[in-house]
Amino acid sequence: MKTKVGIDRIHFYIPPQYVDMEELAQARKIDPAKFTIGIGQSQMAVTDYKQDIVTLAINAALPIISKEDRDIIDQVIVATESSFDYSKAASIYLHEALKINRFARSYEIKEACYAGTAALQAAVDYVRLRPKRKVLVVTTDIARYGLASSGEATQGAGAVAMLITADPAILAIEEESIAYTDNQFDFWRPQYDTYPRVDGKFSTDLYNQTFLNLMEEVGERKPDFWDAYQVQLFHLPFTKMGRKAIKNYRQYLSNSTDKISDTDQKLKALDLWEKHYEHAIEYSRNIGNIYTGSLYLGLISLLNYDQSLKEGDKISLFSYGSGAVAECFFGELQDGFREAILFKEIESMFQKRRKLSIEEYEELYLKSIETSDGIIEFDPSVHEGEFYLAKIDNHRRYYKQKISHQNDSKM
Ligand code: COA
Repeated sequence: MKTKVGIDRIHFYIPPQYVDMEELAQARKIDPAKFTIGIGQSQMAVTDYKQDIVTLAINAALPIISKEDRDIIDQVIVATESSFDYSKAASIYLHEALKINRFARSYEIKEACYAGTAALQAAVDYVRLRPKRKVLVVTTDIARYGLASSGEATQGAGAVAMLITADPAILAIEEESIAYTDNQFDFWRPQYDTYPRVDGKFSTDLYNQTFLNLMEEVGERKPDFWDAYQVQLFHLPFTKMGRKAIKNYRQYLSNSTDKISDTDQKLKALDLWEKHYEHAIEYSRNIGNIYTGSLYLGLISLLNYDQSLKEGDKISLFSYGSGAVAECFFGELQDGFREAILFKEIESMFQKRRKLSIEEYEELYLKSIETSDGIIEFDPSVHEGEFYLAKIDNHRRYYKQKISHQNDSKM
């Protein structure tokens, strides 16, 4: 029998402050129902100007890496589309902060929101060949479209860390997946732009069409698909998006000239997907878009809130990155998957968050770090035990862990 490989541990981190979407809508003179129902967002995670993709990534990974892991992790892969450096990979800072052994590979992957899946698949393939080794994959992003822009309601920030191993405790990933590439301009960011260029309507249509094309291919290549997979997870730029993709596919199927029994079977599967979908969007509704990690945030949310799921259930995952690259891949839930996730820590993270007024949010948004030579030191704006950007010394970033006074002597 082939060794199972997949997600052994998974965790996420969000910045300690957020904006309420109803308050944001009121400030923008928009009916709040557009944001809360039309787009499907209740709260939006916001970074302080001192929090970057590295602080998010370290804090996501820290709780799931044991001392023993440090010696057998061979790769640290970061997926992001909000890097602050064109050359040096964010994973190198992560490698140092987590004290991973020197003889590990560290690099960064880019392809919009799809990059997390490219990283995950690279990790899974690596461990399949070397089942005693482990790979750390971290998606980390700060999604920004500009104050009062049409994309403002679909911003967010956060990182998801996944430890990929043999005999995983949470989700075994199947070897076969189906990828898809189509050169388009739905969302992209030239080097000289602070915010991405986005054709919002076109990007939602392209997402829907890409999902439909992939589903038809999945049906061709995987004859058991419509029977065996109870759940369909989606990349979630905002929580209405997956629902739109299901609706669009339902319309397509309703007009299909295929055998009626085949179409009926697919439509029944779509009904089931819609039920599970409600559980998968809980975290995203209160965080927003975290780009590369959105699909995986949906996975954690599903495993927390969907009590109907059990060991052996099969999940299909739809990853989408503008530009565009997509992939449908598949996993099977493992024995004890729920106990392997730090749900209490996640709950406490939400409870510790502070709500920003719209004025505070706008002020923070427009603040940035000076880019001149010299030394800038920062106070931590995170909670005890978390990592923060401590200093920039001649354009070199240094990160530190915030420790309580009781722990000072241990340093
Ligand atoms: N009550 C309830 N719903 C309302 C409403 C109200 N008062 N006012 C509007 N809506 C609904 C609209 O009917 C629409 O729903 P539908 O898409 O199901 O038809 C939804 O709210 C959004 O309204 P719309 O006018 O389309 O919003 P917009 O033009 O401001 O753009 C995005 C929305 C998501 C396209 C925009 O935020 C964006 O560009 N985001 C970034 C790109 C992105 O995330 N793309 C996704 C693919 S990765």
